[in-house]
This record gives sequence, structure tokens and C-alpha cells, in this order.
Amino acid sequence: MTEGLLELRDVSVSVGDKAILRDVSLTVGAGEAHILLGPNGSGKSSVLSAIMGLAPFEVTKGDILYRGQSIKGLGVDERARVGLGMAFQRPPTLEGVTVAEFASALDASARLATEAEALNLGDFADRDLVVGFSGGEIKRWEVLKLFLQAPDFLLFDEPESGVDLEHIAAVGAAVNRLVSAPARDGSKRGALLITHTGLILEHVQADMGHILSGGRIIHSGPPKALFQHIQKSGYVAPAA
Ligand SMILES: Nc1ncnc2c1ncn2[C@@H]1O[C@H](COP(=O)(O)OP(=O)(O)O)[C@@H](O)[C@H]1O
Ligand SMILES: [Mg+2]
Repeated sequence: MTEGLLELRDVSVSVGDKAILRDVSLTVGAGEAHILLGPNGSGKSSVLSAIMGLAPFEVTKGDILYRGQSIKGLGVDERARVGLGMAFQRPPTLEGVTVAEFASALDASARLATEAEALNLGDFADRDLVVGFSGGEIKRWEVLKLFLQAPDFLLFDEPESGVDLEHIAAVGAAVNRLVSAPARDGSKRGALLITHTGLILEHVQADMGHILSGGRIIHSGPPKALFQHIQKSGYVAPAA
């Protein structure tokens, strides 16, 4: 059995009275990248939000463990401090905080220019966070943000969706570099990625894929084969 870096044990999640996820279990070992696939509204983003501890998602059952410790009771800032980081599908804007100030607050100014260039983001250090960013720029910024934060466990919500084809390879390579970099204690990082297009599979060596449907994991298996199955048959469990 793999040593679980991140483990979801029978996790059910609600927003108010509405049940969103039911009995979701998965274990991502150190050095592993898993992908989450599923139709719109199946609960993929909610899985990442529950792991990150974002409101209004409430874990009503089960537990979430990081490095063997429950993080269910931790706030989002504490989860970030223990090593979790997330590239959002739709990040909030932060008017009055520039990209350069954000990098400086994280002691990451030295990394900003090189990583921005690697993502073809050009000169945007003086822009307020995400204000007026195009869809593709938002995606690339969210990946860049993870280079600045340097979390040990990475959550990506459709990092390639809405990115122009000419930038897809840069985003894929950047995601792969983030996932393959060592954790701060020298051990291996882990990652959970949502992909709609499957393009990220061309760049990241994924170890396991999971199909989410109606808030449940209905099947898990080797990612590329799973994606091919979905392209042919849709988001259903393959026949045994
Ligand atoms: N903040 C929220 N309040 C209420 N319902 C929500 C909220 N966020 C998501 N949902 C609902 O949870 C379900 C799963 O959504 P989501 O996790 O965003 O799916 P996916 O990422 O797979 O498209 C959907 O029915 C959606 O409407
Ligand atoms: Mg989503």
C-alpha cells in the first residue's frame, strides 16, 4: 500500500442542506499525481474546496488526512501553512494588491520574473491580482501563484481549460515542474488535478484517475485508459 500523503476517508460534503459529495475516498501517495474526471456539476471543484477548507463546503462525514494527521478542523490559512496549495478555476480578484506585492509577501520576488516568463506572462508585476486578467491569463497566473507559494501538495482545478493552444504546452510543462519538484523537507510532493480536456495528461505523469459522477467516485483506474474510455463511452464506469 502506498504511504498516503493526502487521504480522503468516506468524505461527504454539503452546502447548507444540499448534499454535494458522498463517501469520497482516495489516497494520493508522496510522488503521485491523481486526476479527477467527471461531467459538469459532478462535484470535482467541491472535492478540492473541501480539501482546502473553503467555505461554504462542510464536511459532514468522514475525514481528510494530510501526512497522517486530520486537517478537517483546520482553517484554510492553516492548511496552506501545513503545505496545501490550490490553483483555482475562478479565483477572486484582490484589488489593491499587485502581483509584485503578493510575491514579496511570500518572499518569492526572486522567482517571479523567471516563472512568469516561462508561462509567457510577460510584464504584469504591477497589475492588481486577477483584475482584468483574461480567462487564459487567470489560468496561467494560478499556476505561477503556486510557484510563489511552493506548496507540498498541489490542487489544480482545470489548469488548461480556457488556455490558448499556443500556451498549453507552457502550462503543462509548468504544472509538471511543480508536481515533480521536491517538497520542502526533501520528500516528494503530491497532486490532485481536475482535467476536462485531458490535455494535461500529455505533460504530467499521472498515476491514477478517478471518475466522479453525482458526487461519488464511480470508478478509478490508469488515467490515460480512463480518459480514452470516457471519450468513447462518457462518464460511466467501464464494464468489468
Ligand atoms: N457555493 C455553492 N453553493 C451551493 N451549491 C454549490 C456551490 N458550489 C457548488 N455547488 C453545487 O455543487 C455541485 C457540484 O459543483 P462543482 O463541485 O462545482 O462541480 P464540478 O466542478 O464537477 O463542475 C453542483 O450541483 C453545484 O451547483
Ligand atoms: Mg469545477
